[in-house]
Amino acid sequence: MQKTVEIAFETKFEEEVYNGLTAFPKHLSSMYFYDETGDKLFQDIMNMPEYYLTDYEFNILTANKAKIGHLFARGDQRFKLIELGAGDGKKTKILLKHLIAKSYEFTYQPIDISPTVLKVLEQSLHNELPELQIEPQQGTYFEALKKINAANGTRKIILFLGSNIGNLMHEKAIDFLGRIQQLMHTDDLFFVGFDMKKDPNTILNAYNDETGITAAFNKNILARINRELDGNFDTEKFLHWEVYDPESGTAKSYLVAKEAQTISIEKLGLTVDFQAWETLHTEISQKYDENTIKKLAQKSGFEIVCDFSDDAQGFKDYVFRKV
Ligand code: AVI
Repeated sequence: MQKTVEIAFETKFEEEVYNGLTAFPKHLSSMYFYDETGDKLFQDIMNMPEYYLTDYEFNILTANKAKIGHLFARGDQRFKLIELGAGDGKKTKILLKHLIAKSYEFTYQPIDISPTVLKVLEQSLHNELPELQIEPQQGTYFEALKKINAANGTRKIILFLGSNIGNLMHEKAIDFLGRIQQLMHTDDLFFVGFDMKKDPNTILNAYNDETGITAAFNKNILARINRELDGNFDTEKFLHWEVYDPESGTAKSYLVAKEAQTISIEKLGLTVDFQAWETLHTEISQKYDENTIKKLAQKSGFEIVCDFSDDAQGFKDYVFRKV
């Protein structure tokens, strides 16, 4: 009979690192890229010329801010503008400036798990837009949305920009969207960015820049295990590897062991063997076509109100409403 050993983990990170590194094939969730170092590296990625996603969405919001503002305020109604994972707010500021200039009545409620990210954002918004009513919400998206719902019944507009949805494979994306849908009322709107299928070379370049910023971002998950769980990964012994399947639209990031090695992670009492050229899968960045987006919306209880795009249809911001 096989014996199962119960291990007491202190955090979800510990549990997922243990399970991911003892699985075959090995995997870790890209969710854990984002500590202080990872947040900074992601800011650098968004400023890279190869990472077209930021510029595309920036241009869509700039070109359509008047229509979007109209849709959000539905005439002249008060609303809450809630943002899931606001980051540095570079793109959101286009909308915020426009909404303020038009004297729309709204409160901006950015949600983030990191109190540091929220503090930096709040400070920069106070400096740039002193008239803005801002109420940062620290916590997970779902916890914070529940709290916001409990506060009062003002209409909600929920922003989820940057194709963050693409970091979830379809089943998980449907589950995520369905949970958001359940926390919405029929009058509320969900404004969500999708990176579209395009020239595979463009996609590969965005996730495989020559300067090595994306490689450092990917390897930060190993560095984080070293810092937080007393691991001894030598990040030089791993190769950042990106693949893109133009049929499914899935871009996948891996770390590939350049040689056989044994890693010890003291806090987990774990020793992990890597064979030479063994893979560790770390991230998916899904690219979409219109039919796939329609299916995702339908399966999670949404209908599509409209979408905004650039001329080349390289990126799309969709507006969903609860059915
Ligand atoms: C946050 N997320 C949408 C980014 C993406 O495009 O998948 C994260 C990223 N990974 C590598 N570069 C950027």
